Amino acid sequence: MQEFEDFLINNLPKIDTFHPTYQKALHEMLTAGGKRFRPKLLLSIVKAYEPLLVKSAMYPALALELFHTYSLIHDDLPAMDNASFRRGHPTLHTTYDEALAILIGDGLNTHAFELIASAPLRDDVKTKLTLILSRNGGSGGMVLGQAIDLYFENKPLSLQEIIELHTNKTAKLIAASLQMGAVIADAKSITEEKLYDFGIKLGILFQVQDDILDAVQTDTQAGKPTNNDSNKNSFVTLLGTKEAIEYADNLAIEIQKQFGEFEPNIQNALKPLMDKYLNRHKQ
Ligand code: IPE
Ligand code: IPE
Ligand code: MG
Ligand code: MG
Ligand code: MG
Repeated sequence: MQEFEDFLINNLPKIDTFHPTYQKALHEMLTAGGKRFRPKLLLSIVKAYEPLLVKSAMYPALALELFHTYSLIHDDLPAMDNASFRRGHPTLHTTYDEALAILIGDGLNTHAFELIASAPLRDDVKTKLTLILSRNGGSGGMVLGQAIDLYFENKPLSLQEIIELHTNKTAKLIAASLQMGAVIADAKSITEEKLYDFGIKLGILFQVQDDILDAVQTDTQAGKPTNNDSNKNSFVTLLGTKEAIEYADNLAIEIQKQFGEFEPNIQNALKPLMDKYLNRHKQ
């Protein structure tokens, strides 16, 4: 979405400092690419209900991308997944050093909340957005998921536990993106809940697909190191590639069915994203 990319470029954090590489490093992973899945989810929901609010919604949409990018920068650190490139670009700890990569992650995390606070939206809406992002991305969400992911390396989990891992590390932020869109658009609280539940399923599928792509794509195709999950509790390590694909196929069918139950305006707005990402594991 060009409008989002333009907003991102124009709203990168501007820091006045004599540090020679800080500002460049702060922008580097954001401008390196990425699918922008989470901001697109939020913006699609706002567009479905309140097209006039799309411009104001760019702030929380960018906040989601900053938050997600922080999680990727930390995910790639030597102490975590130890990856040397991301989005087809060398990781920050490779180009600069580990300390700067950690700090840039911290900076993007906190700047996400500055963006929400400075959005031209109602104060009660901004409070709710802050709550949703911190609840789903923080200590009871993505951070917990990452802690489980790393603690249980080389310690096989059950299918149920892996679903809980994927729910925390990936699905909650995806569900939060949809819910934040509903909050901005002032959608009924029942729709908010339905979108959140749908987002959890979609997010689990997103991570199962990511696990499959780790097994079937090359580094170049993925823009990040693949075949990197052998010590992880990924769907492929648990089930094998073929069964993981079957699992993803079935989940995609279930999600498609649930998607068909949404009002036409939501379906129309989300359809391009569904078409692109629902069967990503088959490509
Ligand atoms: C990668 O996220 C990490 C997961 C949660 C699977 P994305 O697949 O959304 O990565 P980008 O943002 O497109 O680089
Ligand atoms: C990371 O999951 C999810 C995050 C919260 C960042 P992965 O470790 O599987 O993500 P990739 O494959 O490195 O993108
Ligand atoms: Mg990881
Ligand atoms: Mg990783
Ligand atoms: Mg992965």
